[in-house]
Amino acid sequence: MKAQLILLGAPGSGKGTQAARLVSDLGYKHISTGDLLRNEIAKESELGKKVQGIMTRGELVDDTTVLELLNANCDLTSGSYIFDGFPRNLDQAKALDLEVIKDVAHKAIYFDIDLDILAERLVNRRTCGDCGEIYNLLFKAPKAKGVCDKCSGTNLNQRKDDNEESVKTRLGVFKSTIDPVLSYYEEKGALKRVKASATSAEVFEEVKNTVK
Ligand code: AP5
Repeated sequence: MKAQLILLGAPGSGKGTQAARLVSDLGYKHISTGDLLRNEIAKESELGKKVQGIMTRGELVDDTTVLELLNANCDLTSGSYIFDGFPRNLDQAKALDLEVIKDVAHKAIYFDIDLDILAERLVNRRTCGDCGEIYNLLFKAPKAKGVCDKCSGTNLNQRKDDNEESVKTRLGVFKSTIDPVLSYYEEKGALKRVKASATSAEVFEEVKNTVK
């Protein structure tokens, strides 16, 4: 079985974009804690109601809630996963090892990028509400305005937390939590870095090389 992959990086650094290619080209399963939480909001579940305001503001949901959701939605005996958006802090990194990954082989890939360019990427992101394809009005616009290239759906949405104020909070949270997480994986010899400011295709080539 291929090693489990842990994608680390700032909001907008391209984790979701690259995860989609790793799934389609290399057969990984994708688990995004952000997507799991957004599904709960869409279902209007109790959990969804609890986290909605927190996520819209760009703050982190509590560790216990996210870990429970993650555990309930992945089964490492069924294949190799891409963990996207988890861990966000050192406690989550340790919990991922102890409670989810255990002794299974894994690699962490850090999407290294200057944070100053990310607000522009994020406020211009649109996501297909039908198939999940990710677009960008500046860098990867759909061929026909408002229509998904992949599934022809007309439901291209902007995430509630992709506004200037929430983006500022999200980037601030990232800056204050990432260093111990990187040190943790570095000390284990499990950290790879990719230059995430390159084009999406170039980043994918680098990611593929680190996965080999
Ligand atoms: P989450 O859903 O994980 O969002 P995020 O970390 O803020 O990351 P994004 O999805 O915004 O960025 P991405 O790196 O996937 O970028 P993408 O590929 O889409 O979390 C959302 C919220 O949920 C959190 O704020 C928190 O409240 C909660 N949460 C989630 N996990 C949690 C946890 N573990 N603990 C606690 N709370 C948690 O790309 C972005 C844009 O850039 C797109 O438009 C794309 O087309 C474009 N783009 C991508 N690559 C390139 C490129 N190379 N060149 C040009 N444009 C590019």
